[in-house]
Amino acid sequence: MSAGKILAVLFKGGEYNTPKLLGSAENALGLKKFIQEHNRSIFSTSDKGPEIDDYIKEAEVIISTPFNPVYISKERIDSAKNLKLLITAGVGSDHVDLDHINKSGRDISVLEVTGSNTTSVAEHVVLTILSLVKNFIPAHQNAMEGGWDIAKISRDAYDLEGKVVGTIGAGRIGYKVLERLYPFKTKELLYYDYQPLSEELRSKVDARRVDSIEELVAQSDIVTINAPLHAGTKSLVNKELLSKFKPGALLVNTARGAICNAQDVADAVKSGQLRGYGGDVWYPQPAPKDHPWRTLSNQYGDGNAMTPHVSGANLDAQARYALGVKNILQSYFSGKFDYRPQDVILLHGQYATKAYGSDKEVVDVN
Ligand code: NAI
Repeated sequence: MSAGKILAVLFKGGEYNTPKLLGSAENALGLKKFIQEHNRSIFSTSDKGPEIDDYIKEAEVIISTPFNPVYISKERIDSAKNLKLLITAGVGSDHVDLDHINKSGRDISVLEVTGSNTTSVAEHVVLTILSLVKNFIPAHQNAMEGGWDIAKISRDAYDLEGKVVGTIGAGRIGYKVLERLYPFKTKELLYYDYQPLSEELRSKVDARRVDSIEELVAQSDIVTINAPLHAGTKSLVNKELLSKFKPGALLVNTARGAICNAQDVADAVKSGQLRGYGGDVWYPQPAPKDHPWRTLSNQYGDGNAMTPHVSGANLDAQARYALGVKNILQSYFSGKFDYRPQDVILLHGQYATKAYGSDKEVVDVN
């Protein structure tokens, strides 16, 4: 490949591919014709290993996705001499070494399709919370297996009403989670975020801001994580923080797997410090067959509401992020770089958002 080449690393459609599955490597976000019309070529693949390194070396644009993430490491960035633009088809660009681009002084921009799947994820968070609170998955399995064991299910099932729910991160997804939980008449909604909500937004959901994550976990019956993965959140939920949770709390993480220490979480569920854990993000992805979250369970054999990374990749979300990628490419091809400000993570190497850590120097792209 030479300059003018676009590499797309997406998930495999394979035997399940349909024309609607825009996000598959085969369908390439429906952008093959559009890209060719702009005198670029596209190589779309689901391979993520060393076999794509030659393409990375020559690519001008790399499109990737959090669902089948290709890790754009320091080495890969240094090898990609023509690289100008990295686009995340979805939300969450932690699979790219953002700090390295920022420090390298290279003119590389990183954009994601902000908002494209926030509703999809917020709905999944509420679904996962309810599944764990109501012990729904074991109840469903019991029905499928021909059982009728009311006591087996009920001994570990509750209501959401009257519980305290806390979110780590109250950005686009975290706030939508609060909006969706508000009608459930919880005892209290809490949030921790170094960027406070405006009084107008906060009062709409009657949420209380706490001063620290420790304070949040000590008071919550249910904790949901809705912050990006960055140096300040990596392994944030570890043995030490878990010991500060309310005993028997539930934890839901649809943000990024590496925010939690996998074994510490599985141990906490086994010991009863957590009653259950659910979410759809893992590290690495795809998760190995023996990843502790595939089989974690509490003393009753319940408390696992894990799915593969699907919450932000349903068909509605795919249609939105495919269009978002097209719009970003359009701005790039035109040379105007008139991107939607909310999509920009790094602009020409400079951070343009505060979401990836409170320590970042941020340029104004408005
Ligand atoms: P956003 O940028 O609107 O909000 C993130 C919020 O987290 C910001 O308000 C930021 O200040 C806050 N934050 C950052 N570090 C924090 C910390 N240490 N403690 C507390 N708050 C902190 O992002 P959005 O759209 O809400 O997405 C959040 C994350 O969710 C993404 O970065 C991504 O990792 C994940 N995500 C997962 C998806 C899935 O399919 N499971 C799909 C979309 C996003």
